[in-house]
Amino acid sequence: MSKYRETLSKLEAIGQEHLLRFFADLGEGQQTALLGQIARLDLDAIPRLVDRYVRNPAKFSPPTDVLPVDAYPNDPKSARKQWDKAKYRAAGEALLKAGRVGAFMVAGGQGSRLGYDGPKGCFRAGEVSRRSLFEFFGLGIRRAEMRYGKPVPWYIMTSPQNHESTQAYFTEHRWFGLDPANIMFFQQGVLPSFDMKTGKILLAKPDEVATNPDGHGGSIAALSRSGAIADMKRRGIEHLSYFQVDNPLVRTLDPIFLGLHSSAPDSSGEMSSKMIPKTDPKEKVGVFALVLRDGRRGVDVIEYSDFPAALAEERLPDGTLRFNAGSIAVHILSVAFLEKLASDANFELPYHRAEKKVPYVDLDTGDVVQPTSNNGVKLEKFIFDAIPLCRQSLVMETDRVEEFAPIKNATGVDSAESCAQIQTLRAARWLEAIGVRVPRRMDGTPDCMLEIDPLHGAEPDDLRERVSGLVIKPGERRVI
Ligand code: UTP
Repeated sequence: MSKYRETLSKLEAIGQEHLLRFFADLGEGQQTALLGQIARLDLDAIPRLVDRYVRNPAKFSPPTDVLPVDAYPNDPKSARKQWDKAKYRAAGEALLKAGRVGAFMVAGGQGSRLGYDGPKGCFRAGEVSRRSLFEFFGLGIRRAEMRYGKPVPWYIMTSPQNHESTQAYFTEHRWFGLDPANIMFFQQGVLPSFDMKTGKILLAKPDEVATNPDGHGGSIAALSRSGAIADMKRRGIEHLSYFQVDNPLVRTLDPIFLGLHSSAPDSSGEMSSKMIPKTDPKEKVGVFALVLRDGRRGVDVIEYSDFPAALAEERLPDGTLRFNAGSIAVHILSVAFLEKLASDANFELPYHRAEKKVPYVDLDTGDVVQPTSNNGVKLEKFIFDAIPLCRQSLVMETDRVEEFAPIKNATGVDSAESCAQIQTLRAARWLEAIGVRVPRRMDGTPDCMLEIDPLHGAEPDDLRERVSGLVIKPGERRVI
């Protein structure tokens, strides 16, 4: 049977034969490409996905039996829970000095809200230095390598759409001074995008199926499929510091967090998370909570849109939100946990459904239509859905200004502008902590634009020598 006939009969069996509607009009190269693209889709799974997530999406019933998580507070002397930061820092540093830790960045997203042309990591997040997001992380990793004296392999998930351009960017920038032998790029999977009403797979062009990356949760299967897990085992890597491509403030390798994750009595050392205290119940970040599942109570992330409004608004006597543990999408995952999940034939993270505007080919005319309202369904998996699969998962609190300034939008909240402001706030705070005067306006905000070079410091003390005698003038723009 010809490849065309074979593909057609497979598509007919699942009611998606329209994908070959324009086949006869295509050139030979286009025909081969289209058949190849269809062959890479998991066609057997399509009817189930369409039925469950596109045509008859189950109404999400928010969990009702939830309790706040018992996170490790930022202040280790907090009345709520006391803990020994120095002890856990030493444990984390021991792992770094033994070369047991890798960095794991997910960079396969489409970055549609930012609307930047190219991989989001190439976006210049340094308002003063003009350095890119990728460079921020690369320098943070280099600093850890210099400090702890061991290579930190960096695993970077891309998507088919940005894989080559991401690699080219790293090559062009000489891997930010890192050894390219320790950087591994691997691609995540894609899923077809569906017509919201009919469940038919959309065509992006007459010779191309409309697809979207399968979400950061797709990384678990992709790490295994690509050989990245095997590479970690070969190198003796035990834990991965997970972060996203959009937050230049992230501590790429935080010894305290590593120490807690790997050795706290209430952590199974499988997957841990960082939180910031939410002050606005409507802030669009997921919330950590203890949820009762199958008779067992464990940590879970509930998306802000699914969190019951009444619970989100509940306040403690001191005025703080009862459910205040906002996720900043920073985790540590153990390699053993990833391997266990990826090798389980029944393992599958749930899909989340998002209604989006997906450009598509009109099947009658062959023209590409740019929809003005949502017409398509994209399905994605989320990495935090692995948390309930842990025996015991730990959450650590951190400070918003220290670690969370994502660039998601072109303007306003979570934009390059807000990120630059937070970078300045953090730098001002660090400098003042080590005795440098920072000019401030009448309202208390810094009257300057500051940025910390990640190669120079991961915490205030690291900068002491460099800034001795430093005077910052009002209105100055400076990289420290
Ligand atoms: P976001 O949820 O912000 O999605 O991703 P996005 O696709 O980058 O941006 P929008 O929603 O289109 O504006 C959070 C992190 O997860 C990665 C992103 O690259 C980012 O680091 N991600 C997201 C993936 O690696 N793969 C995906 O399929 C989705």
